[in-house]
Amino acid sequence: MIDLSTNYLGLKLKNPVVVSASPLTEKLENFARLEEAGAAAIVMYSLFEEQIEAESENIDHALEYGTNSYAESTSYLPDMPKYHVGPERYLELLRKGKASVTIPVIASLNGNSPGGWVRYSEYMEQAGADALELNIFDVATDPRVTAEQVETRYCDLVRAIRKNVRIPIAVKLGPYFTSCANFAQKLSAAGADGIVIFNRFYQPDFDLEELEVVPNLVLSSPHELRLRLHWAAILYHQVETYIAITGGVHDATDVLKSMMAGAHVAMMTSALLKYGIEHIGVVLSGMEAWMAEHEYVSVKQMRGSMSLVNVENPNMFCRGNYLKMLGSYTWREPGAALTSF
Ligand SMILES: Cc1cc2nc3c(=O)[nH]c(=O)nc-3n(C[C@H](O)[C@H](O)[C@H](O)COP(=O)(O)O)c2cc1C
Repeated sequence: MIDLSTNYLGLKLKNPVVVSASPLTEKLENFARLEEAGAAAIVMYSLFEEQIEAESENIDHALEYGTNSYAESTSYLPDMPKYHVGPERYLELLRKGKASVTIPVIASLNGNSPGGWVRYSEYMEQAGADALELNIFDVATDPRVTAEQVETRYCDLVRAIRKNVRIPIAVKLGPYFTSCANFAQKLSAAGADGIVIFNRFYQPDFDLEELEVVPNLVLSSPHELRLRLHWAAILYHQVETYIAITGGVHDATDVLKSMMAGAHVAMMTSALLKYGIEHIGVVLSGMEAWMAEHEYVSVKQMRGSMSLVNVENPNMFCRGNYLKMLGSYTWREPGAALTSF
């Protein structure tokens, strides 16, 4: 009997496959479908700082002028209404979604500056969230703001939320920090129980005909996993924190690699949007088949086995890898490559 169980943020999970924040949780019926397919936990899509602030501005406005100008106050969130619903509906969906499954449901708050919106962490806890994922998606565009100031702001935000809730908090962040391991340690000291690595850095594209900067969301590809494996392997055992990998987890081998790097869970969105919710079952049976063939009895047994502290050659995660990687490339004339196929 293969034991796939794991622990994430102090939650006992039957396996390491967690559904990350996505439109899949916009529909109540999908919570049960995700559980049935084998997901060990579900992260709901995010409620945004901007949505919460817009709603409270709307309430203030309505109280002051006795009007209901919701449409007006949300008009500066151009793409939001298509994907996200307002705070009240979010909490209602969280309550109902949680009641419809037996697996943990993690609510997601998305923002980047301390403010009144953080009180929603408390409402999420009251609505039944088993944990909170705080997605800090931030782009530091001001040349006067230092890296240290950015990190301090993140930590202040975690502290503010920590004061509001007793449930575990995971911080989802981008990969572009000068000293990622040190920063992970700071987040942990500020009260984060875990980190979710990494937010994809969505860059807009340029429309040359209209001369406009346009959004262009492309689903992930498996090669994006490497950056996550690299950092999970570095953080494992060095920083006391739960680690979730998100980005590029598409099949069973991706989950296995994530565990060996040192992650507690591997999260999935793109692959589920592409292949359907039932793909979770394919991933789980693929894991079991691989583990049986390679005589692993549990996920715990493999966790961190390929991490920086456990591999024979830790240089592969450091500068030494750079030289080795470049040296491993063999260039062929394009013509020669073509004729060899
Ligand atoms: C359409 C779409 C919507 C998403 N919405 C959210 C969201 O509301 N909050 C969040 O933290 N991440 C959101 N994500 C990011 C995913 O949770 C995940 O981190 C990212 O897609 C990388 O994982 P993947 O390679 O499995 O797709 C979204 C991703 C997609 C594709």
